[in-house]
Amino acid sequence: MFENKSVVVTGAASGIGRQTALEFAQRGAKVVVADIDEPNGTAFVESLTDKGHEALFVRADLTREADCERLVEVTADTFGGVDVLVNNAAIEITTPIHELPLHEWDRLLATNLTSMFLCSKHALRRMIEARQGAIVNVCSVSGLVAWPGIAAYNTTKGGVMMLTKSLAADYAPYNIRANCVCPSIIDTPMTDVSVGNDLDVKEQKAKLNPLGRLGTPEDVANAILFLASDDSSFITGAALTVDGGYTAV
Ligand SMILES: NC(=O)c1ccc[n+]([C@@H]2O[C@H](COP(=O)([O-])OP(=O)(O)OC[C@H]3O[C@@H](n4cnc5c(N)ncnc54)[C@H](O)[C@@H]3O)[C@@H](O)[C@H]2O)c1
Repeated sequence: MFENKSVVVTGAASGIGRQTALEFAQRGAKVVVADIDEPNGTAFVESLTDKGHEALFVRADLTREADCERLVEVTADTFGGVDVLVNNAAIEITTPIHELPLHEWDRLLATNLTSMFLCSKHALRRMIEARQGAIVNVCSVSGLVAWPGIAAYNTTKGGVMMLTKSLAADYAPYNIRANCVCPSIIDTPMTDVSVGNDLDVKEQKAKLNPLGRLGTPEDVANAILFLASDDSSFITGAALTVDGGYTAV
């Protein structure tokens, strides 16, 4: 489905990003794994190339414009363009607003929102030249409704939502689509940190979803691949919930 497509996935050394990069590679894409975590990123790319997939690790701190620009350049030089950009990297901070130092607020915004602006900015230049492209941003149900206790994180995801719609509006004339996925709690290393690795707690959280289970990285990756594929060629500016029904009730 993605034969010869050049796909960048940010934050792909772990969790949802890693699963997404794997599924793109399994469907024939040339995949760039971008992450600040060099040991896990490198090991993951080795596991992909060992299986015969085309993959490359680029170490990037996506809060830095120079790194985002270099990521796009290396991708285009190696794989001949940027067909798909998945903006996935993010962090979570649970400190309440009245205790949150300004530098932590700034770090959260830079990692979760500014990184998506910077990667999109540089990838768009290539996509505009090519007159085609797909951007999929990993948002959250917390971009739609306020998840208690993580106000600053929710705020960044609200920004991701509007960035997505704005990209869709401005770049449709170039045949570039932009959409986002909105997961509820997904069982990843990020969740192990924020919710804890306790199975009872995870079971309680799972009950918040009508489908009665936590999401998996595969659930989210499947939605991302759909939004990146030609199967969604008339879909842009959409926010696809991958939440077991969490926002339906
Ligand atoms: N896990 C959940 O419950 C959940 C729910 C809704 C949305 N999301 C979103 O899904 C996405 C992926 O989350 P995950 O659970 O897979 O997280 P994760 O912590 O497993 O992976 C995030 C990756 O981003 C990388 N990263 C962080 N800061 C970076 C930076 N400055 N530069 C480059 N890479 C950086 C990390 O090294 C890590 O590999 C995030 O956007 C997150 O907000 C997750």
